[in-house]
Amino acid sequence: MTAYEKLLVSLPKTPKKWLVTGVAGFIGSNLLEQLLTLDQTVVGLDNFATGHQHNLDEVKSLVSAEQWERFKFIEGDIRKLGDCKQACECVDYVLHQAALGSVPRSLSDPIATNSVNIDGFLNMLVAARDAKVKNFVYAASSSTYGDHPALPKVEDVIGNPLSPYAATKYVNEIYADVFQRSYGFNTIGLRYFNVFGKRQDPDGAYAAVMPKWAAAMINGDEVFINGDGETSRDFCFVENTVQANILAATTRAAESLNQVYNVAFGGRTTLNMLFDCLAKSLLDNGVSYQRLPKYCDFRAGDVRHSQADISKIRNLLGYRPKFDIHSGIAKSMSWYVAKKIPKSS
Ligand SMILES: NC(=O)c1ccc[n+]([C@@H]2O[C@H](COP(=O)([O-])OP(=O)(O)OC[C@H]3O[C@@H](n4cnc5c(N)ncnc54)[C@H](O)[C@@H]3O)[C@@H](O)[C@H]2O)c1
Repeated sequence: MTAYEKLLVSLPKTPKKWLVTGVAGFIGSNLLEQLLTLDQTVVGLDNFATGHQHNLDEVKSLVSAEQWERFKFIEGDIRKLGDCKQACECVDYVLHQAALGSVPRSLSDPIATNSVNIDGFLNMLVAARDAKVKNFVYAASSSTYGDHPALPKVEDVIGNPLSPYAATKYVNEIYADVFQRSYGFNTIGLRYFNVFGKRQDPDGAYAAVMPKWAAAMINGDEVFINGDGETSRDFCFVENTVQANILAATTRAAESLNQVYNVAFGGRTTLNMLFDCLAKSLLDNGVSYQRLPKYCDFRAGDVRHSQADISKIRNLLGYRPKFDIHSGIAKSMSWYVAKKIPKSS
């Protein structure tokens, strides 16, 4: 039995109170679904900046009425300390996901990204520290590796951030470290590498590549590839990310706390390969996409290659990612097709 499989058995017998910030978003709503399925009590905080009520409604439809009763939603903003304090009351574990994602968004509006991702993060740290939560797990980012060329990425070798977004995520790690040194407050940072799966938003200018392309293909629209298509990423199915969060929150081992960990599968897929995988998966779902991709300019602020070394999280937290890119895409695509997602903008 893996460490996570053991937790899936033990957690329902000893329910805890969790706070998920960004709960109406993609990763937050997947965390909510798993925690409620495990009979945990969950407080969710979100201001619907990029999250949606329909994500919460879908989770409600997937859990029992009794489990849904254990969820309390607070519509609030992490830029307001009072909202953070209210959300942290009597909480055991915080899974802090709320942020403004997207490298291009941060390039066009660095002030908004800074205020949510840094001021909001600091508010959450203060509120969680004052509420004496047992562990504060936060969404860090692989963008922190910046311009460092080494592959695979190992946690303690980082380069210069390439975007305001990357800078904010790096500052989060610095603040978390300072809170440990200054106040003895426990945190764990999870550097996510390109997470994908159900409920990831396909719409808008800042949509991630996977849902955006899936939506375009389902609609028979053109797919645009930034650059030559040989840019590569370590795509991580969201259920692996959920596993990492639950393992991180519940660890008690001193050497596992106050660390940052890569969260990925440990593979490397080029955008050209991704295009082929998505078209094949769509065909498995009975939809044929015959068009060729259209290549355009490289996107500012993007790193060229990304692949994680996941030894640290395997060794210290017992993380064993269950889904590779193919099984993850199979699960995600059937969801996108079933939802008959609207035309991507
Ligand atoms: N998806 C990825 O591949 C990826 C990769 C690296 C890091 N991350 C990080 O993971 C976290 C979750 O990302 P996601 O993909 O689920 O994005 P998402 O946009 O779907 O979710 C973010 C949620 O935070 C909420 N939010 C934003 N500003 C807020 C505020 N001021 N107050 C309260 N709530 C607010 C949004 O409404 C949304 O529901 C983010 O911190 C993101 O930076 C994601």
